[in-house]
Amino acid sequence: MVKGLSKMNCFKNKKIGVVGCGNMGGALIKALLSHRMVKSHRLYVYDTVRGKTLPYKKKYGARIVLSFEQLLRRTDILLLAVKPQDIKDLVKGIPKSRFTATLIISILAGTTISYLTKLLGNKAKIVRCMPNLGIVVGYGMTAVCKNRNVSLRDLSIAERIFSCCGMTVRIPEKYINVVTALSGSGPAYYFFLTELLTAEGMSRGIKRTNAEALAQHTALGAARLMQQSKASPKELRKRVTSPGGTTEAAFTVLGSARYKRFFSSAITKAIKRAEKLST
Ligand SMILES: NC(=O)c1ccc[n+]([C@@H]2O[C@H](COP(=O)([O-])OP(=O)(O)OC[C@H]3O[C@@H](n4cnc5c(N)ncnc54)[C@H](OP(=O)(O)O)[C@@H]3O)[C@@H](O)[C@H]2O)c1
Repeated sequence: MVKGLSKMNCFKNKKIGVVGCGNMGGALIKALLSHRMVKSHRLYVYDTVRGKTLPYKKKYGARIVLSFEQLLRRTDILLLAVKPQDIKDLVKGIPKSRFTATLIISILAGTTISYLTKLLGNKAKIVRCMPNLGIVVGYGMTAVCKNRNVSLRDLSIAERIFSCCGMTVRIPEKYINVVTALSGSGPAYYFFLTELLTAEGMSRGIKRTNAEALAQHTALGAARLMQQSKASPKELRKRVTSPGGTTEAAFTVLGSARYKRFFSSAITKAIKRAEKLST
């Protein structure tokens, strides 16, 4: 597991390209530049919507290119951040031999290394990553895996990129659908719990702004405690649960086998969906 950001920058002299400057691509560009992981004149950006790349030029001095071919030609490391359905058209007409020299880092959900290999060729160096929305605020969780053409040094380049905006774990690709169900969809589960708590407060007469503050700040506090404490989430939970108290009363429902089965079946559904959407 790569924790946080190391001072060592193993791609200092490399040129990095980002294709697709939407939510995720944009977050990665900002993280790379604000952590000074890459000099702005070594960062190349491309998006079909020019308005999405301009701010990175104006604010940080990143270089805009006008085609994917240019991006591929000019960079050593290429971050694919378009939607999965757009990848086929993006690489259409480009000879496979053109992909051998560049380290390709894909964040395309559900897009397997074998599918990317079909598009980019057997010699392409491909790292597949599954980040989550947390990267937008610097608290992302990203799982990474690679094909056999990628050296461990190249893999650590991908890890450094994503540790600019959170944490990374290495996993075999066979677990990527599980990762998708856990950490990819994961922020939504925590948002949902916050929604439920807010609604419970409101239904008992607390005004919305206060109910939202109670639920959201409790989530933040719990996350910080998990991050900063050496205790496990289970131990932390026990600390809040005094015998005969309110939390214990809530856990007569939440801790039941039925509730755990319910949650497990939700995760199973997400994994099955991820498998179905995989190409
Ligand atoms: N959001 C998440 O939580 C999350 C988590 C894990 C992985 N991902 C993956 O991250 C990738 C990006 O997601 P996102 O939410 O950032 O999507 P997004 O906001 O739609 O960004 C994708 C960008 O790529 C542009 N684009 C489309 N086709 C292009 C082409 N041929 N050449 C250049 N640019 C092109 C899009 O332009 P248009 O708007 O004009 O199409 C858009 O600006 C997806 O593959 C997704 O599966 C997302």
